[in-house]
Amino acid sequence: MLFEIKPKSRRKDLYDREKELKEFGDALKLGENLILILGIRRLGKSSLLNVALNELKLPYAKIDVRSLYFTFGTIPQDVLVREILESLLRSTRRFRKFRVGLERLVDSIEGIEVSGLKVRIGRKVHLIDILEKIDSWGERVIIAFDEAQYLRFSGLQYDGLIAYAIDNLPNVTFVLTGSEVGMLHDFLGLDNPKKPLFGRYAREIVLERFSRDKSIDFLIKGFSELSIDVPQDEIEDAVEKLDGIVGWLTMYGYLRGVRKLSHEEALSELLNMARSLVREELDKILSHSKRYGMILKAVSLGNERWSEIKEFVESKTGRINDAKFSILLRNLVKYGYLDKISGKYRIPDPIVREIIRRYC
Ligand SMILES: Nc1ncnc2c1ncn2[C@@H]1O[C@H](COP(=O)(O)OP(=O)(O)OP(=O)(O)O)[C@@H](O)[C@H]1O
Ligand SMILES: [Mg+2]
Repeated sequence: MLFEIKPKSRRKDLYDREKELKEFGDALKLGENLILILGIRRLGKSSLLNVALNELKLPYAKIDVRSLYFTFGTIPQDVLVREILESLLRSTRRFRKFRVGLERLVDSIEGIEVSGLKVRIGRKVHLIDILEKIDSWGERVIIAFDEAQYLRFSGLQYDGLIAYAIDNLPNVTFVLTGSEVGMLHDFLGLDNPKKPLFGRYAREIVLERFSRDKSIDFLIKGFSELSIDVPQDEIEDAVEKLDGIVGWLTMYGYLRGVRKLSHEEALSELLNMARSLVREELDKILSHSKRYGMILKAVSLGNERWSEIKEFVESKTGRINDAKFSILLRNLVKYGYLDKISGKYRIPDPIVREIIRRYC
């Protein structure tokens, strides 16, 4: 169902994204070792990743790094190793050929025991040793890190480890997704001579919002799956307000089509649900500095220029020096909360903009 709220995992539930799936497949066919799936929140990165991995007839591990970070406050190596191995075992359930080989491989690692789909780690293990072992298997193996920028919150230098793997382990392909696109770029440092991954090639698949026509078509197809007739002017109004962000379009479709709310009720319930989601997301950056909230408020009210935003923030929270203020603004761009186009700042997501304008 197109309006299923959970991230999609089957191609038939995924609207469009043919070009991106093909690009993913092409990169693998060429044996590339680093694929990035980028885009602001709710554009369908996890869904694209799920569908792409599901269609592969290859062993893969998929790790939700964001949830590991929120569970542990860091990314512990032994947890990561266990998650990778268990996820690999799950992915080979359908392929006997891989299953047997993989079980044998994992069992042969000292200190690790496999029982069914569970892995027990008896003593300290190093991810790099595990990756070397996986590479020595001779099969192509995909290691996907969803929201990989959270790998930076760790005592371990996962960027260095990925660089080593890319240079030395030809059978391992990493797929990294990131909604905090600037943070992920900073973490990887492909353009930064001081970082271990400097100069490496990455295939970048950038998810864009749907065009107006595609958004309309998405809603029409979703409602027709549910055999529901929704007037064209309501569909156009929703598309106008949700601006091609598939996560919001899906939520609207669900509320209107599955929960059968009226158009107005669906939009207002969407704003309600989005409010707690966005609040939770914002709390994380606000814990670093309250000024982030003021900056976003300023932009949501239509202040676009550096100086206008600064003036607004200073009127609320007192003087702030230029350099510090610029860093805060730059971080918001890196987190994906702000866009900067021709010197003007904007909140790229209309629902987030509305929530900040009304409630922050
Ligand atoms: N191409 C698509 N067709 C249909 N529904 C989609 C598509 N892409 C995403 N969705 C839906 O949109 C919502 C957001 O998708 P998903 O979680 O995959 O995005 P994301 O970019 O990973 O978001 P986040 O940044 O919050 O992790 C989900 O409800 C998902 O089912
Ligand atoms: Mg996601």
